[in-house]
Amino acid sequence: MIEKLKNIVDKAKADIGKAHTREELLQVQQRYLGRKGELPILLHKLSSLPERERPEAGQKANEAKQTLLRAIEEQHALVGEKNEKPAEEIDVTWPGDEMPRGHLHPITQFLRRVKGIFYSMGFEILDGPEVELQKYNFDLLNIPKDHPARDVWDTFFVRGSKEDLVLRTHTSPVQVRAMEKRKPPVRIIVPGRVFRHEATDASHEAEFYQCEGLVVDKGIRVTDLIGTLKMFLQETFEKKVRIRVRPEFYPFVEPGIDIDMSCLLCGGKGCPACKQSGWMEMVGSGMVHPKVLKNMGVDPQVYSGFAFGLGIDRLMMLYYGVDDVRLSYSGDLRFLEQF
Ligand code: PHE
Repeated sequence: MIEKLKNIVDKAKADIGKAHTREELLQVQQRYLGRKGELPILLHKLSSLPERERPEAGQKANEAKQTLLRAIEEQHALVGEKNEKPAEEIDVTWPGDEMPRGHLHPITQFLRRVKGIFYSMGFEILDGPEVELQKYNFDLLNIPKDHPARDVWDTFFVRGSKEDLVLRTHTSPVQVRAMEKRKPPVRIIVPGRVFRHEATDASHEAEFYQCEGLVVDKGIRVTDLIGTLKMFLQETFEKKVRIRVRPEFYPFVEPGIDIDMSCLLCGGKGCPACKQSGWMEMVGSGMVHPKVLKNMGVDPQVYSGFAFGLGIDRLMMLYYGVDDVRLSYSGDLRFLEQF
């Protein structure tokens, strides 16, 4: 048996050496190693050997197979080099194809702009968790359990969480979180993603970006709030804008103020984008409620502050002239490649 194996290997090696094309090599491979090749046929006879001799013969047969495979591989490389022309001539001086290049998402680009503007006004930029304790999202912001105001924020609750977790419905929870580690004076912004259980349409998404702002110091007044936001809007849009303020209710501020900006598209005359009113709602804001100041560990007798929540998506849409929020989150390259 072992003698026969040796014969096969010698014969096969000689044939491999004589193969001058890959085609021929393949035929040799078939002849010796293919399903009905000489080596497999011999292997088949292993079972008829006396049991004592089987292991050694089996091992030798395996070695023979490996030897042949290696020989074939080496010859394959050789005949390839010598006899086969490359499929096409390659002109190495030809300029390469341009690779498609990605870029930042328009929201990211716009957010960087927003951060830059606030940074230049002396604001610190903070982060907070997207999965939030109800304590921060509601309770400490003066929105007690069972208060009807909770309904305003259509909340995603995290099922089965012992700690009463929600997906934060606004960036306001970071107001209190930030003050746990700071003392006034503070000036912070918190850009980030928020979530609401809402039906989506051209101006509503269940997931969007806000930028929270908080200023706490001695003697902070409503005019500081209005001035700061007007300044921010003018810097953002690089033109003089008119704003108007309206009273609005948010449990964590008193008074609560919504700030509208004269419509950038029609200049205030009225158009479909501003629903013919000439104004666009940009910011929810107000003076921090004394109860919330207390929750922040700040004495409302000594300090006052203002807070605001900017709708980043809406600002971004106005800035670039996009008319449907859903485009932002569509991942559609026809949209994204325009930025
Ligand atoms: N958190 C509010 C909202 O999402 C916006 C807001 C922030 C209002 C800060 C007042 C002060 O609607």
